[in-house]
Amino acid sequence: MTATHRSRPLTIAIDGPAGAGKSTVARQVAERLGYLYIDTGAMYRALTLKALRLRVPLDDAAALTALAATTTIRLERGEEGNRVFLDGEDVTAAIRDPEVSRHVSTVAAVPGVRERLVQLQREMARGGGVVMDGRDIGTHVLPDADRKFFLTATVEERARRRQAELARAGHQVDLESVKAEIERRDRLDSTREHSPLTQAPDAIAIDTTGLPVAEVVNRILEYCR
Ligand code: DC
Repeated sequence: MTATHRSRPLTIAIDGPAGAGKSTVARQVAERLGYLYIDTGAMYRALTLKALRLRVPLDDAAALTALAATTTIRLERGEEGNRVFLDGEDVTAAIRDPEVSRHVSTVAAVPGVRERLVQLQREMARGGGVVMDGRDIGTHVLPDADRKFFLTATVEERARRRQAELARAGHQVDLESVKAEIERRDRLDSTREHSPLTQAPDAIAIDTTGLPVAEVVNRILEYCR
């Protein structure tokens, strides 16, 4: 009998600003490789949703840290991508609400919140075979990831994509306000003290402006061979 050689499943980190195409690309890369897709933004969104529902003051870092410590967030593979469970409740649609988008960067800037969610993310990635997307995956969550990518696109293109995504979810928002919101979030995510959005020195940068999703996915798969 000949021994079959199977390579070890990789750990793939995909970072970048809001609307750069991370989640669409990461999901497809994971599908093609038969890997698990972990959307870390969804985890920060789920906690933000809980804080808003419970009216936890968003400037109270201690209260948000305590909230994170007593919250369970689970990602499950569904037929149309991941489903997100917050304390057992399916909040997949609710976490895309513009109200959540508006406040998520504030919640995500709290060090205690990040420490707790990063710990969960590292546990999920143990053993490899994962594609994880976020802002600090290659720099902080998985600094030893086998492959790191940093996706960018012009702010105009990112705003158009986000507007289309919102429209599909039933929210009609004009382009200028989507653009302003993205710029505000970029600023908050890139200037926060605790693991801000930055490109890891060993990440491969891909500008996705004008590139079809399939093209970005194929480029990433090429690098993963
Ligand atoms: O990718 P997204 O838009 O769903 O992310 C929502 C917010 O969560 C984003 O504005 C910043 C924050 N985030 C983060 O701080 N770190 C991550 N790894 C992922 C998201």
